[in-house]
Amino acid sequence: MKVKLVGWVIVLWALCVGKISAQNAAQAADNVLVAYFSWSGNTRTVAGYVKELTGGDLFEIATVKPYPTEYRQCTEYAKKEQQADARPVLKGKVADMSSYDVIFVGFPNWWGTAPMAVWTFLDSYDWTGKTVIPFCTHGGGGEQKCFSDFRRHIGKAKTKKGFICNGGTVGSVRPQVEAWLKETGVR
Ligand SMILES: Cc1cc2nc3c(=O)[nH]c(=O)nc-3n(C[C@H](O)[C@H](O)[C@H](O)COP(=O)(O)O)c2cc1C
Repeated sequence: MKVKLVGWVIVLWALCVGKISAQNAAQAADNVLVAYFSWSGNTRTVAGYVKELTGGDLFEIATVKPYPTEYRQCTEYAKKEQQADARPVLKGKVADMSSYDVIFVGFPNWWGTAPMAVWTFLDSYDWTGKTVIPFCTHGGGGEQKCFSDFRRHIGKAKTKKGFICNGGTVGSVRPQVEAWLKETGVR
């Protein structure tokens, strides 16, 4: 009888723990936004993993004036934008930023830092009280100033360690993205 009772207590405890973690997962899914800028698709792939793994909403940071589609032209255009400290106008706004607590922001390394369109995005919202976490893809240069510059554009927001990978590897980095998300505590 005593053994049976202990058995039932264990079963009930396991059910409660399961329910609570399911609720936590649902809550996390409700308040995550995955915003990204991507010119050739690599960062979009990583953004897709972050969305899948967190259950967050996806938002593409896109400019009204499109970037040149040819690589060299795009690099020259981006260099000029950076030298001018430009803030290219974006196509849309996040409908209700106040509904998000955790915002992932993904972008490629452009000339050692983020594309200027990402600064337009970050300058457009008040990040106070939110957690804003970067992820980045690069073409061999690594992190350079991507994350240090990022931290200067998020005001009083909290942040966590960013994720970075070579753009050529995005097809196989889902497990690393998953491990990083676990480390951040978001998933
Ligand atoms: C305008 C431009 C500038 C770039 N500058 C750098 C750089 O400074 N360092 C680097 O490692 N890769 C650089 N790259 C390569 C991209 O960071 C890399 O291919 C990235 O994965 C592209 O992401 P996307 O496909 O999301 O646009 C540059 C690419 C472009 C188009």
